[in-house]
Amino acid sequence: MARGDETALVTGATSGIGREFAEQLAQRGYGLVLVARDAERLERVQSELISRYALPVEVIVADLLEASGLESVEQRLAARPVRVLVNNAGFGLKEPFEAQPIEQEDRHLDIHVRVPMRLMHAALPGMVAQGAGNIINVASVAAFTPRGSYGAVKSWVVSFSRWANNRYRANGVHVTAVCPGFVHTEFHQRLGAGLDDIPEWMWLEPGQVVAEGLADAGRGRSVSIPSLRYKALIGLSRLAPSAITQRAAARGR
Ligand SMILES: NC(=O)c1ccc[n+]([C@@H]2O[C@H](COP(=O)([O-])OP(=O)(O)OC[C@H]3O[C@@H](n4cnc5c(N)ncnc54)[C@H](OP(=O)(O)O)[C@@H]3O)[C@@H](O)[C@H]2O)c1
Repeated sequence: MARGDETALVTGATSGIGREFAEQLAQRGYGLVLVARDAERLERVQSELISRYALPVEVIVADLLEASGLESVEQRLAARPVRVLVNNAGFGLKEPFEAQPIEQEDRHLDIHVRVPMRLMHAALPGMVAQGAGNIINVASVAAFTPRGSYGAVKSWVVSFSRWANNRYRANGVHVTAVCPGFVHTEFHQRLGAGLDDIPEWMWLEPGQVVAEGLADAGRGRSVSIPSLRYKALIGLSRLAPSAITQRAAARGR
């Protein structure tokens, strides 16, 4: 990815992986548009990044699950093209599928599928017209083994990213699904999951996930699996009988 007067838009930039994308894109010289619901946290991130990197940082306070919030981000993307779009905002659900209120499942489907699809649709014309762009969709290793509705939505993200990377490569636009394993963020605490049974070696830090994701996006890869240990795990899971991979995937969410 080029350094210069270009802009990157990051959803879910107040915390975890999205906050780290904002940091590392600023380090690379991108101006930023940061999107999340919590106005106070967004403004804090904005002033930290401006004082550290002296770059333009806009914020859009928006709930991407509200029509008006999603439209405000789509309008920003259509009005002034960005060079990088990071579709990252997301959350998990705690209850088993049959016990989770269906309205929550709808919201979960929307944040992980409908929202990134619409933001890609809004960003692509500008990127294609400029002949350059990177779209990074934060998926998960859960995409590679059946694991409830979370695994299913993340599979959609990987499949759609693979297709779009192939389709728009000739236009200078690359689309990468970044697929982390367990990452130390607010994700699990927000959904109220107990994760004491997850061994320490399975946890990644956002810094590594984002550095490897950006490097793979720069190489034009469709899929990025951060860390050697998760590359090895996913490689092995493709060879193992599906009963074993399903038992392993039953951990966490
Ligand atoms: N942590 C993991 O182990 C892990 C592993 C694989 C993949 N992922 C994926 O990584 C992505 C980021 O998660 P994270 O781990 O960094 O979690 P996180 O620390 O909880 O951050 C989630 C971000 O999304 C924003 N957000 C949530 N709902 C939103 C909405 N309706 N509208 C706008 N913004 C919203 C939150 O900001 P506000 O609350 O301010 O709106 C926050 O900035 C997700 O797509 C997740 O599925 C996480």
